[in-house]
Amino acid sequence: MCGIVGYTGPRQAYPIVLKGLKRLEYRGYDSSGVALLHNGKLNVYKKKGKVAELEEYVIGKDLDSGIGIGHTRWATHGEPSDRNAHPHTSSNGRFAMIHNGIIENYAQLKTELQKKGYQFTSDTDTEVLLNFVEDIQNNNNCTLEEALRIALKRVSGAYCILIIDSNDPETIIAARKGSPLVIGIGKGEHFLASDASPIIEYTKEVVYVNDYELAIVKPDELILKNLGNEKVTPYITKLDMELAAIEKGGYDHFMLKEIFEQPSTIYDCLRGRLDADAGTITMGGIDQHISQLINANRIMIIACGTSWHAGLVAEYIIEELCRIPVEVEYASEFRYRNPIVNKGDVIIAISQSGETADTLVALEKAKENGAFIFGVVNAVGSSISRISHAGAYTHAGPEIGVASTKAFTGQLAVLMLMALKMAFVKETISKERYKQLLIELQDVPEKVDAILKNSESIKTIAEAYKNATDFLFLGRGYNFPIALEGALKLKEISYIHAEGYPAAEMKHGPIALVDEKLPVVFIATKDSYHEKIVSNMQEIKARKGKIISIITEGDVISPTLSNHVFSIPPADEVIAPILSVVPLQLLSYYVGVSKGIDVDKPRNLAKSVTVE
Ligand code: G6P
Repeated sequence: MCGIVGYTGPRQAYPIVLKGLKRLEYRGYDSSGVALLHNGKLNVYKKKGKVAELEEYVIGKDLDSGIGIGHTRWATHGEPSDRNAHPHTSSNGRFAMIHNGIIENYAQLKTELQKKGYQFTSDTDTEVLLNFVEDIQNNNNCTLEEALRIALKRVSGAYCILIIDSNDPETIIAARKGSPLVIGIGKGEHFLASDASPIIEYTKEVVYVNDYELAIVKPDELILKNLGNEKVTPYITKLDMELAAIEKGGYDHFMLKEIFEQPSTIYDCLRGRLDADAGTITMGGIDQHISQLINANRIMIIACGTSWHAGLVAEYIIEELCRIPVEVEYASEFRYRNPIVNKGDVIIAISQSGETADTLVALEKAKENGAFIFGVVNAVGSSISRISHAGAYTHAGPEIGVASTKAFTGQLAVLMLMALKMAFVKETISKERYKQLLIELQDVPEKVDAILKNSESIKTIAEAYKNATDFLFLGRGYNFPIALEGALKLKEISYIHAEGYPAAEMKHGPIALVDEKLPVVFIATKDSYHEKIVSNMQEIKARKGKIISIITEGDVISPTLSNHVFSIPPADEVIAPILSVVPLQLLSYYVGVSKGIDVDKPRNLAKSVTVE
């Protein structure tokens, strides 16, 4: 959460920093700000609200500077306000800092500083850290770099920080622990950001800074050091990403673009891996570790949010096809309880961003206990991909809309490939079923395309129910996690209360909510549970609930019970979730848009949750 950008070089910093902040707004958008340096004077401008409001606010102000840092915030300490927005300035006015993360022992540091007479203008932990650095610098009469290094040894928590010094017109000092930082290497200039999206149009050469590293960044020099003041050689990576991938490309919203990209992102995920004709699945990360995977005592899947829902689908599929016990855990629960993790356990970590703090820490904990970590990650080079022993990228490309769509179907595609490969090698699947499922998986992009061609009819359903105050989403078996995902999507971007439930479990509580006003979405594709879910529809109909059903083409019974139906192409029940989620993504999108909500940046959410 929070996006940070920095620039030092011969160009004007402000336009580069501002454009970068717009690209990073998905990380947080309750306030934003920039710090620029002109003739030794720090100009700090910050504003509550989205980056567009900052842009308006700075009109006519002194923006002339070849060095700048900028921040877009997702509030942790202190309400969203001009005062709490970053950058923060140190008490003596010499330094400006931006920060992504949480300084956990800030209260103790603040008390120490207050005793020394420091006063604070914000409620943030960031201002405390900056004044702590200033205090060390004053007392030791040392460089900013040295002061920061000393300060960070006393700090607990997570951070990616950038600091500029009004006495040094060229240098940005950066440090990271737990929150991401990428540095772009230009010709006589450097770019710093939370991810590569603000950098991509200037250079493709980047360095991913590691935890406990400090970067001293000047226009023509990048020095990396560890906290022990030893130099570390920067490892330069080439970005494999095009600018078009992070732009809207004619769509009204990133979310819609990303929903419509799914035929090609799923295709990209399968390309070169799945060959249905030859009956093969080739995935380096899996092939090299196949015996570890199939001989796992058990598999634990760790994730958050939408990625956790992908984990639930995987649980059903892996247990069914591979006969290995699977548990799915919220990362935030796993990391704080005392879970039993043994050597021989395999952990599958699922994450779009690869930076989710809870998932990252949970993995570190499991790794310490000897588990084998397999990452299913979208963001290439991200922290989770780097701490995993092996993994498979989802290849969905940058996902900007805060509500995850194409990353989810990419996760499902990878997890399905993984389960099929493991089942084949373990011989827990018949050759015929294996072959059939490979063909079905190969056909998914085409089927998703067919669903999207019908999106107008979802728009009509959305229009009919946009004023509902509650929704219930029901599914069974492989479609139960899709019910959870449908409810989550709707909550996130339409602010309508929604619950996902196993269809049969609905009798034990949620049925009390059913009346003629309640829309109930059934994910009722043709599978081994179909007759049962039809009975559940009857139960809702008998209580006058409004039924919206996602059904398989050719189903003649469900339409007689439903107020609205949306048909999807036939698919094996193992494959169906990757299709049945698509109309639910569209439903939430169209409801959100018709309610006038900024669906790419819904209130209070952030895409990359780098705080606990
Ligand atoms: C946030 C995002 C969700 C995402 C979740 C987990 O809540 O808004 O879309 O599913 O984090 O993120 P990850 O990057 O680990 O998949």
